[in-house]
Amino acid sequence: MEKFTQVSDISSVPAMVRKALELKANPHAHTVLGANKTVGLIFMNPSLRTRLSSQKAAMNLGMNAMVMNIDKEGWALELRDGAVMNGTTVEHIKDAAGAMGLYCDVIGIRCFPGLISREDDYREHVLSQFIKYCPVPVMSLESATRHPLQSFADMITIEEHKLHTTPRVVLTWAPHVKALPQAVSNSFAEWALASKYDVVITHPEGYELSEEFTHGATIDHNQERALDGADFVYVKNWSSYKDYGKILTQDDSWLLTNDKLKNTANAKIMHCLPVRRNVELSDEVLDSPNSLIMQQAENRIYAAQAVLKELLEGV
Ligand code: CP
Repeated sequence: MEKFTQVSDISSVPAMVRKALELKANPHAHTVLGANKTVGLIFMNPSLRTRLSSQKAAMNLGMNAMVMNIDKEGWALELRDGAVMNGTTVEHIKDAAGAMGLYCDVIGIRCFPGLISREDDYREHVLSQFIKYCPVPVMSLESATRHPLQSFADMITIEEHKLHTTPRVVLTWAPHVKALPQAVSNSFAEWALASKYDVVITHPEGYELSEEFTHGATIDHNQERALDGADFVYVKNWSSYKDYGKILTQDDSWLLTNDKLKNTANAKIMHCLPVRRNVELSDEVLDSPNSLIMQQAENRIYAAQAVLKELLEGV
C-alpha cells in the first residue's frame, strides 16, 4: 500500500479486517519490521483516540512515533501554489511536508474541513497538497471528507460482534450544538457498503450525504422505520452537505433512547467518540450492555497497526 486515505486504497475490507484481528491476537509479532523506523503524526486539529491509538500501534510494531500539533507548534502554513507569502503565513506546505518526510518513514496527517467552501473541502486540498509534497507514504488521521482509520476500526468491531454474514447496519443522524464535518459518516457508509452490509441511513430532510458515499444504501427520513430490525446502530451528527456546513435543526426527538431500540434485533450501539452525552446520545444508551464504544476505541489500535504494517511493507 502506498497511501491510506480511503477504502479504495486497500484491496479488500474483509482481508484487512482479518489482518487486524491477527495483530490484535498477537500485537508484538512484527517488531522487527518496525525497528529503527519512525512515524510522524501531524495534527492540524485536536485528537485523543487517533493520536494515542496510532502511537500505541507504532509501539506495537517496534516503531518510533513523533507527534506534532502543527496548528499550535508549527509555523502558519501556506497552502496555495505560487502564493506571494507577504501575509500571515510563514511556511509553505511543500517545504513543511518535504522536510517532515526526511525525518520519517510514514507520515499521518489530520486536517479537518473548514465547512465554509464545499468545493475546497471535497477536493481535499490540504491532504492532496501534503501527499504531493511528502516523499514518504501518507496515512489519513481524518481529512476533510473521510476518517478511514475510524471506519476500519468500526468494521473490525462489527466483525467481532455480528451474528450473521450480512447484518443490517443503520447510520442515524443525531442532534448537536455545533456544526460537525461529514467525514465520519461518509467514511462509515463507504466502508460498510464495501463490506457488503445492508446499510440504512436515516436523518432529517436536508442532511443527505453526498451520493458518492451513500450509493447502494437505503435512505429513510423516518428514524423509527429505519431502526426496525437493526443489528448495529451507528449514531453520529453531521452538518448539512447540501446547505454546506449549516445546522438545519437541533430536533432532540432524533436523540436515541433505549425505548427507540425495542424493534431492533437487540442492536449494538456504536459511536466514534468524542460524544456530547445527552445531546447527541443518551447516557442510558451509551452505558448500556449493548454499547460498543470502548470496543471501537480499542480497535483503533489494530486498525492503525494493520495500516502501518502494510505501508512499511509497501504491499
Ligand atoms: N474518533 C476519533 O477520531 O477520536 P479523536 O478525535 O479523539 O482522535
